[in-house]
Amino acid sequence: MRGIVLAGGAGSRLYPLTRVASKQLQPVYDKPMIYYPLSTLMSAGIREVLLITTPEDVARFEYLLGDGSQWGIELSYAVQPEPKGIAQAFLVGEEFIANTPVTLILGDNIFYGRIGLEQVVAEFRFGAYVFGYPVADPERYGVVDFNSDGKALSIEEKPEKPKSRYAVPGLYVYDEQVVGIARNMAPSPRGELEITDVNRAYLANGQLHVQLFDRGVAWLDSGTHDSLLEAANFIATIEHRQGIKIACLEEIALERGYVDVDHVARVVSEMPNSGYRAYLEALLAQQ
Ligand code: TTP
Repeated sequence: MRGIVLAGGAGSRLYPLTRVASKQLQPVYDKPMIYYPLSTLMSAGIREVLLITTPEDVARFEYLLGDGSQWGIELSYAVQPEPKGIAQAFLVGEEFIANTPVTLILGDNIFYGRIGLEQVVAEFRFGAYVFGYPVADPERYGVVDFNSDGKALSIEEKPEKPKSRYAVPGLYVYDEQVVGIARNMAPSPRGELEITDVNRAYLANGQLHVQLFDRGVAWLDSGTHDSLLEAANFIATIEHRQGIKIACLEEIALERGYVDVDHVARVVSEMPNSGYRAYLEALLAQQ
């Protein structure tokens, strides 16, 4: 399974922060936002990742993340010239997808807890998987309704009268049909290739599955100043209380066996003195 992180967009709600760097490069407490979706993919066993961003930001992401070898993954980059919709990721990424299944995660979606992606990826056969997360205000999101077998019955974008409480987070798993579906889609009235239309196409074929998150999962969006601050506070609270770091990519790489201790030690030796380095040094000392 390959992974795409979609990290373009206008980021207009975060103006003026996003005047100098895109939303996904902004800090969420102690690391750039992009670390969190990357950690979600890496934790699920996905090691071939394409990052799609804007023409202005691609060099900054490359500078920050490199080719991924420091974490034992393969990172490549592509540009979305204009933010013409989330589903455009499958056209920009067509060559990378190369007729294989793909997981798409939005660069501003932060997940904490056991989301079950690893199992979905490991057992994936065909069709599409979206996730369901109960929220108090489903009318603000894509909303999915489903039966007891986890088969979707409907999926609607920002419905006035939601058929369920389950919002669809920015994390999707598709089989190789997705590129053809995106290619044959027309832009919506707002001029975008809508991810909900992709999901609708799978729904029409009876191939849209819904996986619910456990109650313990936190799904944080960080697209506004308030939600960005709340996400930072959430991460800081857990990290302080438990003495762990969330989305420490070197730690995940080591834990999953993508790299060995010597490799991490080399990477750490090049980091400036910081809490991040000290955390990893303490981790290495325990190995
Ligand atoms: P949004 O939050 O819907 O849009 P945005 O990031 O442009 O922000 P704003 O509404 O404040 O202008 O996008 C969700 C995620 O998807 C975000 O990580 C950006 C990404 N995205 C793209 O990369 N390309 C696109 O064409 C769209 C629509 C979104």
